[in-house]
Parts: sequence; structure tokens; C-alpha cells
Amino acid sequence: MAKLLVGHLSDIDIKGSRTIRVQDTEIAVFRLSDGSVRAVENRCPHKNGRLSEGMVCGDAIHCPLHDWKIDLKSGRVHEPDDGCVTTYVTEVEPESGSIYVTI
Ligand code: FES
Repeated sequence: MAKLLVGHLSDIDIKGSRTIRVQDTEIAVFRLSDGSVRAVENRCPHKNGRLSEGMVCGDAIHCPLHDWKIDLKSGRVHEPDDGCVTTYVTEVEPESGSIYVTI
């Protein structure tokens, strides 16, 4: 496991995202409206939509392709759909605002 510096809070607007690539995996890092930061694999379990291009709503991301809703904390798809995405532990350094993702 590695803890990677992926950016700074000021790099991501509230309800916005940025992506990072680690080897073959693209990870989407989101900033929720409560200011917290979440990271998931940037691939919808339905048909691989890019979640980073979806809309953040509360704790969920709405996939841009067919509007599946995915909980950004657990990675679980909201019912009635089914599936899950890989989530990653995130950490924000309070003093600097640096964002770390554990891969
Ligand atoms: S690809 Fe995400 S809902 Fe279809």
C-alpha cells in the first residue's frame, strides 16, 4: 500500500473532481458538498462510464451515462441497480490542505 499525494483542496471545486492514473487504474477524487474528499475507481460497474464526469449529489455520484447512483463512501450502487466500485482511503492534511489517497 502506498499513500500518494494527489493534489490540494484548492485544486478541486466543491462537487468537483479530478482524476489520477496509477499504473492501469484511473482514480476519480471527488470533493463533496460537506468538504470531505472521496476517491473511487473511475469506472462505473454498469458499462464503464467515467464517474468523474458525473454529478455529485450528497454522498453519491450520478453516472453520466445512464444515471446509476453510486455511494462515494461505500462504493455501493444504489438500489434498484446493483454493483460496486473500488473505494480508496483518502486523507486531507488540515494545515496544508494536501490530499492523499492510499492505493
Ligand atoms: S455506465 Fe454508468 S450507469 Fe451505465
